[in-house]
Amino acid sequence: MCGIVGYIGEKNSVPVLIEGLKRLEYRGYDSAGIGIINTTECKVIKTKGKVAELEKLVQSENIKSNLGIGHTRWATHGEPSMKNAHPHMNEDKTMFLIHNGIIENYVSLKKGLLEEGYKFVSETDTEVLAHLIDHYLKIKNNLFQAVRYALNEVEGTYGIAVIYKNEPDKIVVAKKGSPLVIGIGKNENFIASDVNALIAHTSQVVYMEDGEIAEIFKDHFQAKTIADENIIKEIHEVDLSIDELSKGGYPHYMLKEIMEQPDSLFNSMRGRLVLKEGISKLGGLQGFEERIANSDRIIISACGTSWHAALVGEYMLEQYTGIPVEVEYASEFRYRHPIITPNDTVIFISQSGETADTLAALKEAKKKGALCLGICNVVGSSIARESEAGVYIHAGPEIGVASTKAFTSQLLVLSLITLLIARRKSLNQPEGQEIIEELQKLTHKVELILKQNELIEKIAAQYVECRNFLYLGRGYHFPVALEGALKLKEISYIHAEGYPAAEMKHGPIALIDDDMPVVFIATKDSVYEKVVNNIEEVKARKGRILAIVNEDDNEIEKLVDHVIKVPKTINMLQPILSVIPLQLLAYHIAVKKGLNVDQPRNLAKSVTVE
Ligand code: F6R
Repeated sequence: MCGIVGYIGEKNSVPVLIEGLKRLEYRGYDSAGIGIINTTECKVIKTKGKVAELEKLVQSENIKSNLGIGHTRWATHGEPSMKNAHPHMNEDKTMFLIHNGIIENYVSLKKGLLEEGYKFVSETDTEVLAHLIDHYLKIKNNLFQAVRYALNEVEGTYGIAVIYKNEPDKIVVAKKGSPLVIGIGKNENFIASDVNALIAHTSQVVYMEDGEIAEIFKDHFQAKTIADENIIKEIHEVDLSIDELSKGGYPHYMLKEIMEQPDSLFNSMRGRLVLKEGISKLGGLQGFEERIANSDRIIISACGTSWHAALVGEYMLEQYTGIPVEVEYASEFRYRHPIITPNDTVIFISQSGETADTLAALKEAKKKGALCLGICNVVGSSIARESEAGVYIHAGPEIGVASTKAFTSQLLVLSLITLLIARRKSLNQPEGQEIIEELQKLTHKVELILKQNELIEKIAAQYVECRNFLYLGRGYHFPVALEGALKLKEISYIHAEGYPAAEMKHGPIALIDDDMPVVFIATKDSVYEKVVNNIEEVKARKGRILAIVNEDDNEIEKLVDHVIKVPKTINMLQPILSVIPLQLLAYHIAVKKGLNVDQPRNLAKSVTVE
């Protein structure tokens, strides 16, 4: 979603803001803007499009200032345009506001402000908040209090930063439902919606919590509750290097992240396997193992790719622990009056840890007394902090909008949780050891798949013109079919659907002709023969088939147009391997279509609005 960055200190804020916005561009990117205040002027520069456009404009203006805020926007209210871009401001252009989130009661607030005589130039909810702050600024004559009073009237979500000409020694920030971090420097401080924007300058950060508001000065900050009570905030050290945020010689983040999977998977399991005992050790779940193992039910809730990981988790946990598992879209779960009891364990999976629907579902489950666990990638993210316990996947920063390495690491962590719980149930030590041995062989097997990148690129070239795709798989590979289809549609804009292979005959088979490519995930598991039957059914209708098969499979290639071979592992871990060719297929098709794979249209990396 939208990205926020701000600077106060002794340097020129402008390059800091531009560089920070570039690092946030993956979050949302239909327009961008900065606002600065210096001794002689207050200036806002904004543009539709990329941060690079903004940078050109800023350079031509040659402005300098020790105080500034910047924003990349992902449109919610009002089309992407210069007038809707942030910062928004008061009528005399002395106070600037950037905002991430949605002001839900903006219509009624706007009505009141219109009656007061305020004029609006944009269609955004943010401009309503800017005028509301201005309204209180006129009464209170104090920026912090004006922001606080205005926010007391706001329903919805926000991460905001405000600067004001008459108080040029501070940035006022506040948070509710959208991430906001303060970066602590020496004689300079920063703010951002994401630590990625700060990491070039400082590793010391303060995470703002919902309902908090703060004044940031160049050499200190003061945080309060929205009710004006002082609070002491803890400073955290972030373990992230600037190298981890670069493309490392790859043309796209997505390819880099796909190629990083041997390392990211290794990091997800590092220090967590005890071969001798056939167990996994997850520090984040310490003390909660019994409660999870004795749960009546496990619910896993997530969105998008993380929801696909949840589905694989359902198969794993039910197979090995015997605990009934349900998987829920977080967006449905939160509004559906779900029946949850204190005997349930609810696992929330989120790469970013900031997805609004997942966070809201977590709060709902917490209210009902369930044990709430988080599986997140971003350390210190909202879902990680709100959960009672949890496991970081340690996949490293994922910048490409399409999730790849986070997905495989989520599956890996789910397998570790499965092992942890299953060993307290009926799984014996040799069985646990067998799983660990397979886990240990995984990274080498991933390397073998990645070596086929050129072959996959050649295969992709033959499918670039297709307008529709079906992805079919059974058992553990049904969720992989869904994930393969999602990867393709989000970056190549080709319509693709995933189905359980056996469902094909209940409808989708009508679509099959020589124009319809079907991707089968057909590795050798208990339903292999049945999937081969489904392949025959498609073949009989002249469909084009690409199959993901095991290395030792010489039968399916006689039936289909193309095969990509993956090494064999135990069923539970096979999705980690079979999804990788599908990531590469989607990547190469999108690149060959000339599309921007890292920043696909209409999508944002971190969906912090409902
Ligand atoms: C797809 C993708 C999205 C996310 C979804 C949830 O490639 O990235 O579908 O998986 O928006 O995001 P997180 O995992 O951050 O909660």
